[in-house]
Amino acid sequence: MHHETALADPIVSVDTLPLEVAVVVPTLNEAANVERLVEKLTNVLAGRGWEVLFVDDNSPDGTSDVVRRIARTSRHVRIVQRVGRRGLSSAVIEGVLATAAPVIAVMDGDLQHSEDALPRLIDAVASNDADIAVGTRYVDGGGVGEWSALRVSMSQFATKIGQIALRTKVSDPMSGFFAMRREAFDAALPRLSAIGFKILADILASSPTPLRVAEVPYQFRTREAGESKIGARVIAEYAELLAEKTIGRFVPVRLLKFLMVGGLGVFVHLSVLWALLTAGNSFMMAQTGAVVTAIAFNFFLNNSFTYADRKLKGWAVLGGLASFYAISAVGALANIGIGTWLAGQNERWWVAGVAGVLVGAIWNFAMSSALTWRK
Ligand code: GDD
Ligand code: MN
Repeated sequence: MHHETALADPIVSVDTLPLEVAVVVPTLNEAANVERLVEKLTNVLAGRGWEVLFVDDNSPDGTSDVVRRIARTSRHVRIVQRVGRRGLSSAVIEGVLATAAPVIAVMDGDLQHSEDALPRLIDAVASNDADIAVGTRYVDGGGVGEWSALRVSMSQFATKIGQIALRTKVSDPMSGFFAMRREAFDAALPRLSAIGFKILADILASSPTPLRVAEVPYQFRTREAGESKIGARVIAEYAELLAEKTIGRFVPVRLLKFLMVGGLGVFVHLSVLWALLTAGNSFMMAQTGAVVTAIAFNFFLNNSFTYADRKLKGWAVLGGLASFYAISAVGALANIGIGTWLAGQNERWWVAGVAGVLVGAIWNFAMSSALTWRK
């Protein structure tokens, strides 16, 4: 009897509303903010089928555990905990890929994005009036709150540069607060760079067709708990994203960085050569010292700049340096060989010289990508 009653129980979903919108929130050390954010979302999204996905990069402050505790009593709340990885943009991408919602909103986990604007962002795309709706600080009704004058001008400068490089008229392409239709994201996905902080700029620049953009003003609030992660690295990654989205379509940005480092290496070479000659060494000794120093210089600069994402650490640095010396030695031989051969074909001396350098540099790049800094 008891058994039959159990069978007769209908299988009801915990939440009877179909999933309409997912809010993706990247977090790094936001344990003090997530609970309040969930409360605010619960208020403004009442009556909708919604979920929030926190994509947390294994925050030392235990953000993931705090989210899991909340998620045990609310099916609206989900956690994606990433280990050994970092990055706001890539976190957002993984969050979007982990939800089935047809509309996705993205917002920060530190309560700086005012949730009052969220329903308007969602409705602008849910109604299909736009593919993407951007929360903007730079139209009437929007604002940056209590930012220092320096931070305001830095942000305005970066915004202008971004608008030019990405050929977009969006007033706030640096915004991290927006909503989009899933199709718009899916179309951009294969071309996303996933570098750094600016996922909206990345999506706008990666879309194969022009997107219909709506703008919704909001007031950027001052952070109350936790710390901002902005710093030199964020700025460098923004520059890299813009490079990737402009010249990167023609030449790999990594190759350009490698060539820049190589150019600096020439200066190091000549400086050391001059210093050793001045100190009374023979040319052969001085040249040898210059080569050894310049290659080491190139190795260390490539390790922290060109291949920052695959940076060798600890004992791996020694093996990497040895392989880089070996590759560079072969590159130098190729350089000399090609140059000498072209000169023998009656090519102008500087053409032969430059061709040798290019072949050597591309060899060094290809081989060190594959061996020294292999994935
Ligand atoms: N998963 C993950 N991984 N999250 C991160 C990381 C990371 O490496 N770095 C930062 N976050 C999270 C933070 O925890 C926060 O929820 C959000 O991303 C924004 O980081 P903040 O450090 O607070 O950035 P901000 O205040 O300087 O700038 C933000 O707001 C701007 C205005 O909308 C960023 O979101 C900008 O992209 C945005 O333009
Ligand atoms: Mn913030």
